[in-house]
Amino acid sequence: MPIQSVLDFAHHVVEETLSAGDVAVDATVGNGHDTLALARAVGVEGEVFGMDVQAEALDQARTRLASEGVEERVTLLQEGHETMEAHVPASVRGRVGAVMFNLGYLPGSTSTLTTTPETTIPALKAASALLRPEGVMTVVLYTGHEGGPAEAAAVDSWATDLPQEKFQALSYRFVNQKNHPPRLVVVEKRAA
Ligand SMILES: C[S@@+](CC[C@H](N)C(=O)[O-])C[C@H]1O[C@@H](n2cnc3c(N)ncnc32)[C@H](O)[C@@H]1O
Repeated sequence: MPIQSVLDFAHHVVEETLSAGDVAVDATVGNGHDTLALARAVGVEGEVFGMDVQAEALDQARTRLASEGVEERVTLLQEGHETMEAHVPASVRGRVGAVMFNLGYLPGSTSTLTTTPETTIPALKAASALLRPEGVMTVVLYTGHEGGPAEAAAVDSWATDLPQEKFQALSYRFVNQKNHPPRLVVVEKRAA
């Protein structure tokens, strides 16, 4: 089947972009599925920075990464992604191959904490400054929860306004699925 789910397509994009030894960022670690995919893609010489505000999420992710033997190449930070510029070392600025955002709630948690446009948009701006030429950013959007549609609209607006000569942005979405399917925004920094 050539058509991929939103999550599979996001992984496909980052895996096609990253090479061994690259640097990547997971801006919403959650249970660590995306962090693990990034850690595998950058290999033993690479480095991943993962951010989440919830200790519960980082604990789950830490266990997942350790069980796969990739924890040494991942730095987990219990910080909001809106502080990315302060917490991801300045030495990797302009060298990051991929940044993944998977917005919304922590799956399987009783926590009602969710990402918000007030922090997501500054984080997207910070992430776009970290990317290297031809680096990519994936943003998975969920509109089925309160606040989700407003956050998705803010991300759409941010992506639509990106200067075409510096970035290309696309929207990947299923147009005939019911019940608020997730959708994806992908941004690539153009070669210098
Ligand atoms: C949909 S989940 C992420 C799923 C995750 N990528 C995975 O593979 O399991 C969204 C996560 O964003 C986190 N989050 C909410 N606000 C945040 C913020 N300001 N900075 C970083 N993470 C945040 C939540 O704690 C939650 O774990």
